[in-house]
Amino acid sequence: MSKRSKSSNRWLERQKRDYFVRQAQDKGQVSRAHYKLVQLDERFKLLSPRSKVLELGAAPGGWTQFLESRLSKGMLIAVDPLPITAGLDTFVLEGRAGEESVDAQIESILAAERLDLVLSDMAPNISGVRAVDQARSMDLADITLTACRRWLRPRGAMALKAFQGEGLDAWVRALRDEFRKVTLTKPKASRPESREVFVVAQGYTAKQDIVGGTE
Ligand SMILES: C[S@@+](CC[C@H](N)C(=O)[O-])C[C@H]1O[C@@H](n2cnc3c(N)ncnc32)[C@H](O)[C@@H]1O
Repeated sequence: MSKRSKSSNRWLERQKRDYFVRQAQDKGQVSRAHYKLVQLDERFKLLSPRSKVLELGAAPGGWTQFLESRLSKGMLIAVDPLPITAGLDTFVLEGRAGEESVDAQIESILAAERLDLVLSDMAPNISGVRAVDQARSMDLADITLTACRRWLRPRGAMALKAFQGEGLDAWVRALRDEFRKVTLTKPKASRPESREVFVVAQGYTAKQDIVGGTE
């Protein structure tokens, strides 16, 4: 058997100690990430049973599982190039957010309807070069915002994962033109040592609605 590297041993040790990993295993949840959304929802009241939600970066399906449990009368569209564990009522789109074919499928599912919430837990492939990873993370934030401009209803909400670093503060400031309330937050379930933060934007003003044109 090949020897494990020091860093993978460290990762295994951390996984064993981690409260949220153990909770996820004990309760049969798909992933630890589940708890981040639970905590965001508790604080910001993002979901109701009738919510129509677009979930970007859904694999392996931790958030999806939680969303399905909350959306008894709503709609969920989950997008990821990787396989997602999802229930039968969820629209699973295999592909990348922002790709033409994925956008076309979202259009046809929604028809004239609009979303109440756009979520993104998308993470870029990590290169290890901080500036590159930061730029990729900001690209994913832009893709999420574009989805809001296309399909989010006025007064709807968005919550997305981003990395603390170059460009984020300016991006968040600009977001305040399009949403009435914007909060940068780090749920307890997010590892303290990671640069991951969440941007929660509520009260969409639809000023730059791509479908309806600029106000
Ligand atoms: C941290 S994982 C998401 C975990 C998920 N929220 C859960 O609870 O199971 C990040 C995901 O983002 C996906 N991703 C990265 N870029 C993407 C893109 N452009 N479109 C859709 N998904 C993307 C990756 O494939 C990966 O599955």
